[in-house]
Amino acid sequence: MKMKKMLAILLAFCMLFGMAACGNSGESEGEGETAETKTVGVCIYKFDDAFMTTYRNALEAILKEKGYEVTVVDGNNDQAKQTEQINTFITQGVDALIINPVMTSAAAQMIATVKEADIPTVLINREPTADEMAVFEKLVYVGCDAAQSGTYQGELILETANQGDINGDGKISYIMIQGDPENIDAKLRTEYSVKALTDAGKTVEELDLQRGDWDRNKGQEIAANDLAKFGDQIEVVFCNNDDMAVGALQSIKAAGRVVGEDIYLVGVDALAAALDCVAAGEMTGTVLNDAEGQAAKAVECMEGLLAGDTYAAGEQSVYVDYVKVTPENVGDFM
Ligand code: BGC
Repeated sequence: MKMKKMLAILLAFCMLFGMAACGNSGESEGEGETAETKTVGVCIYKFDDAFMTTYRNALEAILKEKGYEVTVVDGNNDQAKQTEQINTFITQGVDALIINPVMTSAAAQMIATVKEADIPTVLINREPTADEMAVFEKLVYVGCDAAQSGTYQGELILETANQGDINGDGKISYIMIQGDPENIDAKLRTEYSVKALTDAGKTVEELDLQRGDWDRNKGQEIAANDLAKFGDQIEVVFCNNDDMAVGALQSIKAAGRVVGEDIYLVGVDALAAALDCVAAGEMTGTVLNDAEGQAAKAVECMEGLLAGDTYAAGEQSVYVDYVKVTPENVGDFM
């Protein structure tokens, strides 16, 4: 206690009379800073993903602002490449890792690797199982509860004037444009968007389900084919993310269909492009997948781990809430 007080007085003295008066040259000050700078390796599954671009930019900005030395690498959607990148970070001796896995199925191996190297690790965006995470107490997953986003998509349809049954035939006929099905977000959004409808007592008809791998061009292609094949039968276009929804919208317009009048369209993420569409009435709605919020939470958890936090088995998933975005509240997100 006494020692601390003395140090505080000394510090105050230094601040008053300048560092030179305390014999602290600029050089040694610089050395002090270097010694304290922590290094963070960030692995992103691929840079060419609209949502992960927003996320990674937010993450990098927060880490840099907090004074970390950050290296962000592109996995190019190639798990072998990402595994190599993780190994390189470990060899370089980074203090912490933040990893957006390419393949959720590779998580167990990845976790074994970081555990062996004893590096505090935050996994983001692609959630492994609780059992896989349980083997390493310095590991946490930061993301969202994907089921919630699916439920919100279904609710967006139930909130429309005719509750999704545009032609009044007693059933909601939809197409589902899915993300990469290896990813739990894709699985749960697909399941829970429809479940919200059936839970509300609605009859549903799935006209088509295709994987669009989170990709705008694929979303456009799938929607174009389905619109040609099923025409007016399609009442709802569910897209597991906004980038595919923005692609689907191009095909919807090209087919002469009008969102909000003869078809409904929903996505997830609240990308800037999708918010514009919602505001213009060209998308029925979307769901905020809070990139900034998740980036901030990931850094907070990383700092906790660096300070010695550990996570008990079964408590290694930290969720940030999704938020429903409609034409009424879209202004709050722009
Ligand atoms: C997002 C998608 C993104 C995917 C990447 C999802 O949570 O909604 O837009 O492509 O994560 O893993």
